[in-house]
Amino acid sequence: MRTSPDIVAALVGVLEAKDISTAAHTWRVVLYTRALAEVFNLDPHSIDRLSFAAALHDVGKIDIPEAVLLKPGPLTDDEFRVMKAHTTLGHERLLRMGEDDEVALTLVRSHHERWDGKGYPDGLSGEGIPRVARFFAVVDSFDAMTSVRPYRKLVGPEAARLAIIELEAGMGTRYDAEAVKAFADLYRTGSLGWILEYYNDTRPMPDYGQLSDLKSVQSRHA
Ligand SMILES: [Fe+2]
Repeated sequence: MRTSPDIVAALVGVLEAKDISTAAHTWRVVLYTRALAEVFNLDPHSIDRLSFAAALHDVGKIDIPEAVLLKPGPLTDDEFRVMKAHTTLGHERLLRMGEDDEVALTLVRSHHERWDGKGYPDGLSGEGIPRVARFFAVVDSFDAMTSVRPYRKLVGPEAARLAIIELEAGMGTRYDAEAVKAFADLYRTGSLGWILEYYNDTRPMPDYGQLSDLKSVQSRHA
């Protein structure tokens, strides 16, 4: 059984209500994911499956205590261990819901794996990490580096330029080089500009039921 758009929206709503994530963050990562998927000529059905998987990537954070999740300062080793469990808890939550889409299950579980094997929860490395998770790790990191945070002076285009440099510096260690290259190409051709504009979290978000209506993400900038 696949999770319906309404359920996806409800789960994303819980993350937002608990201050774990914002609707804008979720939408940006969904749209970046769609843009990347278009580069690799995925069919529309697969792109929609990936979109829902991307929207749900941090669903396991629902099960993490707020004292850890929303702690303002750095986490202790024990707290970080608790935080890391959002990957396996999310995977288990989806299984309990009856989700059987491998793309969603894999992305939720493996989006914090690193190319060099130093990620979590399974310490997978290189091509042993499912491709969908290797690509999504790039998207998620880029958004983390470009979204508005109280401590961050740079936002928008300047932050994006530096984030791309950072991703490229992590090629072959933290990130899959092919994924970074594809994402950096998209950025440099201007295909991500309109998505980046969501960085300030003030724009009205579309509806998850209308995902398929977004059609070509890349063509939006033209
Ligand atoms: Fe995560």
